[in-house]
Amino acid sequence: MTFLITGATGSVGRHVVDLLVAAGAPVRALTRTPDSAALPDAVEVVAGDLLRPDSLLPALTGVERLYLFPEPSTAAQVARLAAQAGVRRIVVLSSDAVTEGSDPDHHRPVEEAVERTGLDWTHVRPGEFAANKLSVWGSSIADAGVVRAAYPDAVGAPVHEADVAAVAAAALLEDGHAGAVHSVSGPEALTVGEQVRSLAAGLGRELRFEEVTPAAARADMIEQGFPEPIADYILAFQASWVDRPAAVHDTVERLTGRPARTLAQWAADHRADFR
Ligand SMILES: NC(=O)c1ccc[n+]([C@@H]2O[C@H](COP(=O)([O-])OP(=O)(O)OC[C@H]3O[C@@H](n4cnc5c(N)ncnc54)[C@H](OP(=O)(O)O)[C@@H]3O)[C@@H](O)[C@H]2O)c1
Repeated sequence: MTFLITGATGSVGRHVVDLLVAAGAPVRALTRTPDSAALPDAVEVVAGDLLRPDSLLPALTGVERLYLFPEPSTAAQVARLAAQAGVRRIVVLSSDAVTEGSDPDHHRPVEEAVERTGLDWTHVRPGEFAANKLSVWGSSIADAGVVRAAYPDAVGAPVHEADVAAVAAAALLEDGHAGAVHSVSGPEALTVGEQVRSLAAGLGRELRFEEVTPAAARADMIEQGFPEPIADYILAFQASWVDRPAAVHDTVERLTGRPARTLAQWAADHRADFR
């Protein structure tokens, strides 16, 4: 039974690959750039581009279970091709923003395309990735040991990418997940100040929190290279967590038998990335 992992070089996908390989499953990994994919030797690496569905045909041949990285523009075609190729089960990397009703255009269309195939499906809906702390705060942490953020009372529950992958791997490997929607979060609801303290503990260094206005936080992100719509999106969900804290789900523990990793653990795993 071959497993095809799309997004295999991504932060979640690499862990999915490793978990499947560790379970002894035959893994085929899709990437647009096989030469630089740096995937384990046990993996069959194939070229393909989700934006060009026909390019996926060789990768889909003989596949029974598919981990699908979300690309809404071609999801309907990709899901149809997967069904025609004989795929039986699709696990979608989605987003808990769908649950919250704040993501009508990106992840939900992918989920719907997969549901329409009539194949077994499971939707994995993570909340905010802990990795966002690196992309948004990483440079000021590395440069000055400071986190500049708006909305100090916003409460998030950032999730370790390895835990998102563990849930996806369970849905790929085990039976009993057909038609399930798995919301995935970190184990703790944390204000921004608590997040900064967790990062400091995991990184083993002192960090300072400095509240800035939303406009200044936006300008910071744009200066770091975030496109304006993404900066606005990030600020909007941070603002929404002031009145409505991010949900904490027990999915990781329920499915894997061990607690979800804390933000401090995530930071410890990523010390090198913050240098
Ligand atoms: N950040 C968050 O807080 C958050 C929260 C909820 C959900 N999510 C979802 O998680 C996703 C990120 O997952 P991740 O961190 O594992 O990925 P990632 O590290 O951003 O890497 C992107 C992956 O997608 C692959 N990819 C991108 N475009 C492709 C295309 N046209 N054809 C084939 N492969 C393509 C890349 O493969 P190659 O470059 O090797 O081809 C790479 O493996 C987001 O896009 C979002 O949908 C994120």
